[in-house]
Amino acid sequence: MALVTTKQMLINAQKDNYAVGAFNVENMEMVMAVVEAAEELNSPVIMQTTPSTVKYADVEFFLANAKVAAEKANVPIAMHLDHGNSFELAIKAFRAGYTSVMIDGSHSSFEENIELTKSVVDVCNCANIPVEAELGKVGGKEDDLDGGDGGYTDPEEAKQFVEKTGVDSLAVAIGTAHGVYKGEPKLDIDRLSEIRQVVDIPLVLHGTSGVPDETVEKCIERGICKVNYATDLRIAFSKGVKEVLDKNPDTIDPKKYSSLGREYVKEYVKSKILVCKSNNKA
Ligand code: 13P
Repeated sequence: MALVTTKQMLINAQKDNYAVGAFNVENMEMVMAVVEAAEELNSPVIMQTTPSTVKYADVEFFLANAKVAAEKANVPIAMHLDHGNSFELAIKAFRAGYTSVMIDGSHSSFEENIELTKSVVDVCNCANIPVEAELGKVGGKEDDLDGGDGGYTDPEEAKQFVEKTGVDSLAVAIGTAHGVYKGEPKLDIDRLSEIRQVVDIPLVLHGTSGVPDETVEKCIERGICKVNYATDLRIAFSKGVKEVLDKNPDTIDPKKYSSLGREYVKEYVKSKILVCKSNNKA
């Protein structure tokens, strides 16, 4: 089927207390792996690309891959811009045909974040393309994005932010960080419940690679409807490539060394779809 937006997907998830996994893709094999996993588990799924990924190859390349994969599939698939870091990039992805856009103004002041987010919402919502924003800072590093030490989302600010921007979903900072964790992350899940009490749009968890599954499940029970995984997919893909090349260093066919990585990404995505409980929700 054609790509769908994240709007109804996340509303359905919120209503039925599950989440939709959002998986960062870096190449065609990862796109194929994510879609195969979703099809096998009859699950809706979101694929997403960061600014550095679309700097490597433009939004059109990734969109084309996602579009073809979605059209061959029988489950709802959305293509989302992750951490859009400027109005221009958000609108570029929107114009190219991304079916969901994040604008991340979390590094600016509260007022500037509102202004930037609203400007993207005003354009995208005219064409029914939903917008995700971030309030508070998810810490850690992802590509060339550096969240520093983070800064938790304040529930009262979240309420005002949603009212003033009209945003469709909100990424919250409750102690997760992008990249590889040094120890077990300690999440402030009571803060999540406090945010949920005053904000009624779908909430998004970033920095989920390395967060224990039971913790993710608790976050979903308390209102998370979209769960982002990036680092672990890169690790899974690279592990497959390395294994093939370690065993057979003379391999020169990219199809040969990419296929094991694709298989590992697919297994990883399937396991996280089960954590999100979006299997059989297509
Ligand atoms: P991880 O790389 O920690 O999985 O974070 C993913 C993410 O939040 C993408 O925005």
